[in-house]
Amino acid sequence: MKVGVVGLGTMGAGIAQVSITAGHQTVGREISQELAQRGRATINHYLGRAVEKGRMTTDERDAALARLALTTELSDLADCELVIEAVLEELPLKREVFAELDRATRPEAILATNTSALSVAEIAEATQHPERVVGMHFFNPAPVLPLVEIVRAPASSDEAVRAAYEWADRAGKRPVACNDTPGFIVNRILIPLLNDCVRVLDEAGVTPEDLDKALVNGAGWPLGPCALVDLVGIDVHVHASEALYEKLGQERMAPPRRLVELQQHGRLGRKTGAGFFDY
Ligand SMILES: NC(=O)c1ccc[n+]([C@@H]2O[C@H](COP(=O)([O-])OP(=O)(O)OC[C@H]3O[C@@H](n4cnc5c(N)ncnc54)[C@H](O)[C@@H]3O)[C@@H](O)[C@H]2O)c1
Repeated sequence: MKVGVVGLGTMGAGIAQVSITAGHQTVGREISQELAQRGRATINHYLGRAVEKGRMTTDERDAALARLALTTELSDLADCELVIEAVLEELPLKREVFAELDRATRPEAILATNTSALSVAEIAEATQHPERVVGMHFFNPAPVLPLVEIVRAPASSDEAVRAAYEWADRAGKRPVACNDTPGFIVNRILIPLLNDCVRVLDEAGVTPEDLDKALVNGAGWPLGPCALVDLVGIDVHVHASEALYEKLGQERMAPPRRLVELQQHGRLGRKTGAGFFDY
């Protein structure tokens, strides 16, 4: 199957890696040659690590990389049967991309969005064929985390939902079916839960070290909540939290003051070298 990936940022590069590793000819579209090359370099780096760890041979890596084509033109995705969009989380931008994809691709191609917090239906409305639009919500890092939430919007056809589900399944992922409700499954649960964890720090006068130790050793969490928010990125969590709060209006969904303050101080977690913890 020929696959298009729009945006080769954090998520798009990971999704393109999943696609080429699964054996698909894949066209990655970026907004500049430089960003496209950077996306390829990211994929090259992670496939190199897979070779070092013995999960892939050098021949397999080279064959996978040879399946990746780069472009700055959406029209080069014209003959893709599945296109997965992973551009910035902005509704007008995603609608613009989908309107153009709708014109550029064949009507039977599946168009998927990797949005975390936007409504798939509102993105699909920008097309003439909303029945072929679904959500494919990967988790970061996409090549590592198995889950893909396959999101059915009200207008999505059974065929489009099934095709997206089967593609993810054959690519070695663990797809689940869900509906176009705020936060889908995981974020709807995890965001207020992590917010509660952060509120407990101040309410109960607990240190991030002890909170994490408590949840790891008392509740079997593989990673403590503060370490998890640092890994996800405090800005990413705050953004998703605000989006969920806006849609559901429950106080638990709103980002706790402590997280907003960390964000304001530029302590965004692992990626900036400091969040709850220093790295
Ligand atoms: N980072 C995560 O943990 C995560 C997890 C799941 C889903 N998502 C979703 O994936 C999507 C991408 O997030 P990301 O973290 O990869 O972001 P990113 O900032 O790493 O990448 C953003 C991409 O958008 C592209 N872009 C920027 N401006 C553009 C424009 N005007 N036109 C077209 N493309 C443009 C960039 O070139 C880049 O490829 C978002 O919808 C986000 O909500 C993110």
